[in-house]
Amino acid sequence: MARIQVGVIGLGRMGAVHARHLAGSVAGARLVAVADVDPKRLALAEELGVKGYVEFRDMIASPDVEAIVVAGPTDQREAMLEAAIESGKPIFCEKPLAQTLDAVYRIKAAVEKRGAFLQLGFMRRFDPGYAAARKKIEEGAIGEVVGVYSMTRDPHLPPYDYIASSGGIFADLAIHDFDILRFLTGDEVASVYAIGGVYKYDRLHEYGDVDNAFCTLRFSRGAMGLVHGSRNAVYGYDVRAEVYGTEGSLRIGYDRETPLLVLDQRGASHDYVPYFFERFQNAYRLELEAFVDAVRRGAPPPVGVDDGEKALAIAVAAQRSLESGQPVPLDPGGVLRGEAT
Ligand SMILES: NC(=O)c1ccc[n+]([C@@H]2O[C@H](COP(=O)([O-])OP(=O)(O)OC[C@H]3O[C@@H](n4cnc5c(N)ncnc54)[C@H](O)[C@@H]3O)[C@@H](O)[C@H]2O)c1
Repeated sequence: MARIQVGVIGLGRMGAVHARHLAGSVAGARLVAVADVDPKRLALAEELGVKGYVEFRDMIASPDVEAIVVAGPTDQREAMLEAAIESGKPIFCEKPLAQTLDAVYRIKAAVEKRGAFLQLGFMRRFDPGYAAARKKIEEGAIGEVVGVYSMTRDPHLPPYDYIASSGGIFADLAIHDFDILRFLTGDEVASVYAIGGVYKYDRLHEYGDVDNAFCTLRFSRGAMGLVHGSRNAVYGYDVRAEVYGTEGSLRIGYDRETPLLVLDQRGASHDYVPYFFERFQNAYRLELEAFVDAVRRGAPPPVGVDDGEKALAIAVAAQRSLESGQPVPLDPGGVLRGEAT
């Protein structure tokens, strides 16, 4: 069967990972084009031997491009998705789906109208640890879920121009936690209470953002949840979760990157997972393989627009809670209907 010819929009930290994977290791796919407005980033086209575009709309329109990966800045998401959806070509889109719920509703309407295929990049669902935990929960291995705990601690702040376009700590970073807790529990969030602050990077005040936040969640079937999002884990990329049940517990994640423990006069030491590329390298490849597989089979996307909407609804509720100091309820089904952000 011919491989699906894919073009990638945006060759930054994330887009370059997707482009490299598609150029070499994603079964059933072939990278044919990339687009970026930054000439330095676009140099990757030559390295990978594919066509490079400055204007992403030209890449979308190319007959050689059969499927599109959208990995540009979050504040350009809607414009990029609008053009990609209109083309009718299958789309793999980085998280978050959009920065506001209003934008999500517009994207959702366009997807439905065009009958578009849109898969969202919540890669943790494809990580072997998280996937195995969900299976265990479904099999009843830990009984009824009592509480879930998920943390995303980045080792440092991304560049300030990224912060400016990111949508804030909840929509940009903790959204991975919100999605994976929905995935693990198979349940929707009913209410959110968030606290947070600027503990390390004073300049974040200018952006109305925080570098650390905690959210407590109540799920609709009664389970409790706790999320810690941080931009300041000085020791490394610390992404873990625990699902605690009436009959046991599941711990997901690891901290030592190299399988080496050094034992000397100072005691025992080892390195730490450096960043997201290393921790989720496999998951980034597997989510693209799932994309190709679903497109070929004519199956629905394994992670869809509704997942993007519900994860963003939790993020929006968390932001409102942070600002108001009050818990924020979500509507049944984990949505925030008719609410602008
Ligand atoms: N799934 C994950 O783990 C993960 C990790 C990091 C980032 N992301 C997401 O990926 C997206 C990109 O993040 P990033 O860290 O790669 O950002 P980045 O700033 O490193 O890269 C963005 C790239 O888009 C390019 N760009 C800007 N405007 C463009 C345009 N009009 N046309 C084409 N290219 C354009 C920039 O030149 C840059 O190369 C964000 O939405 C972010 O939330 C996801």
